[in-house]
Amino acid sequence: MKTTVTTLLKMKASGEKISMLTCYDYTMARLMDEAKIECLLVGDSLGQVVLGYETPLSVTLDDMIHHAKAVVRGAKQAFVVVDMPFMTYQVNAEQALVNAGRLIQETGAQAVKLEGGEKVAPQIAAIVSAGIPVVAHIGLTPQSVHQLGGYKVQGKTQAAAQQLLDDARAVEAAGACAVVLECVPAALAAKVSERLSVPTIGIGAGAGCDGQVLVWQDMLGMFKDFQPKFVKQFAQVGDTMQEAFARFRQEVREGSFPEAVHSFTIDEDVLSRLY
Ligand code: KIV
Repeated sequence: MKTTVTTLLKMKASGEKISMLTCYDYTMARLMDEAKIECLLVGDSLGQVVLGYETPLSVTLDDMIHHAKAVVRGAKQAFVVVDMPFMTYQVNAEQALVNAGRLIQETGAQAVKLEGGEKVAPQIAAIVSAGIPVVAHIGLTPQSVHQLGGYKVQGKTQAAAQQLLDDARAVEAAGACAVVLECVPAALAAKVSERLSVPTIGIGAGAGCDGQVLVWQDMLGMFKDFQPKFVKQFAQVGDTMQEAFARFRQEVREGSFPEAVHSFTIDEDVLSRLY
């Protein structure tokens, strides 16, 4: 059965934790879907882990649409959320609604995600009023990395913690169906999760959130440029892949690949008539 907004709300109510992973292509979507991951996030982390940019700021709406279409084709059960990239919703509610509409209509995804709290509440309300579920994202918001002065834990002072709670309440009141909390002290994230009726999905926000999200290249040990403290490597697939690439090269060089079982045959007769 397809995971929906209602499923996520029921999971929060019953205390069943939600798992979300980033996903950017069809093959991974199939694997994650078959592993029963409830939510696939076509994150704008695409910029760093797939496209090789330093930040997500260069990612475009067309990039997101291209990758989200592939993910949707592979997600039979999972709820697919697509990030709204930088400058596709910040201008005003009208801009946000038009671009959220494109993401949903052109990809077949179920929800959009955007960064920010109180300041983007009008955008969230406009998108939700068109019938499009919105996942909010507060705490460390990578699209504001230059303003935040780097990838740092958020909400540590009295004022910042209160602002985080106010932002969470504002996005919920605007109609967000879930809230991503990124790089927030665990006890603060637990308090925010208790106060909200919609699920919180944490990344670097401790075990008190209603669900957890990780970037798949991080949790499989594939992305070596940068390793945040909150990442757990559930497998070292990067090393396994590198070993396989090296073995492939070695076998090609020495001529032991391909073998007869990997090759196609032809009648000797056909060959002998060639001139
Ligand atoms: O873009 C992304 O991958 C994200 C997650 C880190 C939550 O927003």
